[in-house]
Amino acid sequence: MSIILSLETSCDESAAALVSNETGKIELLAHKIASQIEEHGQWGGVVPEIASRRHLENLPFLIEEVFSKSKLEIKDIDAVAATVTPGLTGSLLVGSITARTIANLHQIPFLGIHHLEGHLSSIYFGENHPKPPFLVLLVSGGHTELIKVDVEHKYHRLGRSHDDAAGEAFDKVARLLGLPYPGGPEIQKIAKSGDPKKFLFPKGRVSKPEGGFYPYDFSFSGLKTAVFRQIDKIKSENKKLPAEDIAASFENVVAEVLVERSLRCVLDQGLNSLVLVGGVAANERLRQMMITKASENSIDIALAPMEFCTDNAAMIGAAALLRLSSGNNQSSMELGVSARWPLEKSDLLYDVNPPF
Ligand code: KG4
Ligand code: ZN
Repeated sequence: MSIILSLETSCDESAAALVSNETGKIELLAHKIASQIEEHGQWGGVVPEIASRRHLENLPFLIEEVFSKSKLEIKDIDAVAATVTPGLTGSLLVGSITARTIANLHQIPFLGIHHLEGHLSSIYFGENHPKPPFLVLLVSGGHTELIKVDVEHKYHRLGRSHDDAAGEAFDKVARLLGLPYPGGPEIQKIAKSGDPKKFLFPKGRVSKPEGGFYPYDFSFSGLKTAVFRQIDKIKSENKKLPAEDIAASFENVVAEVLVERSLRCVLDQGLNSLVLVGGVAANERLRQMMITKASENSIDIALAPMEFCTDNAAMIGAAALLRLSSGNNQSSMELGVSARWPLEKSDLLYDVNPPF
């Protein structure tokens, strides 16, 4: 049983958390996020150099705050964890070096965490979390993946996007509509008063070289182009842009495609549990559609709590506790960071000879 200090700095949120499994289940003792969204918003997306500098400035205060909120002291901590892959390398380094420094000074284990395993672990803060085997739809700003979890920590990717991630599509379409970054919440906001059937946008599919389509893969770049063409056409006719209808129709087709392919995959695999995690999992239309369609097909559904869909350190702490309880006691102090690393190979983060 352990208490863990966890850090997340892979992109544009600096975050710290204290999590524990001392009561037999994963519990959040305190967590804090410093979002850099407003600053990056001025540039229309994340500026890596600014992100790393802000992580460096934010982390000491975030760590101090989670300790004071939880009334714990550093001597109460059994291990320290940080996201080490995938993400912006300069940003990852800030969290990883901070965690390794604390671990070294206080002679406690350090655990490097795979960011996607963190997202997967966010369901432990929800009402119900299934036991493997189950299928996960992970939808964020950088990833759109269908992952089968056979047993704890054994992953098998069955589907992915071949171009933009779902969150990226939200961000790009928002920009076309003149909405600020990040686009997902902004599109959701205006889509509420729009007609989701007004425009018929395409559900991108990915062709197999031998003919037919990959049944569980995604493509969102054609959809983004279709929205661009629609906006261009309306503007060239000097008509008022129906931004709400475009946002609702776009959001609807993204939700449909994610739900349809996830359900097809879960049924084809003979599974009966589906898990929805990642920043885009905060989308209300997607959540609602997933709940309805899963129940029509007698599939159990577990949704990441809204608060823990977008990047946070609580999910990194939960992932670290699960690693500890399955015998991965620590990472090498020589484990570095990597912009990319397959989730399937996340066991290697606990190897005495680290992969990066
Ligand atoms: O998981 P996350 O915080 O960061 C990554 O690991 O990428 O996801 C951020 C992404 C952004 O693209 C953002 O636009 C999207 O999640 N997002 C949403 C919503 N909230 C955040 N997309 C659709 N609807 C939302 N409510
Ligand atoms: Zn993320």
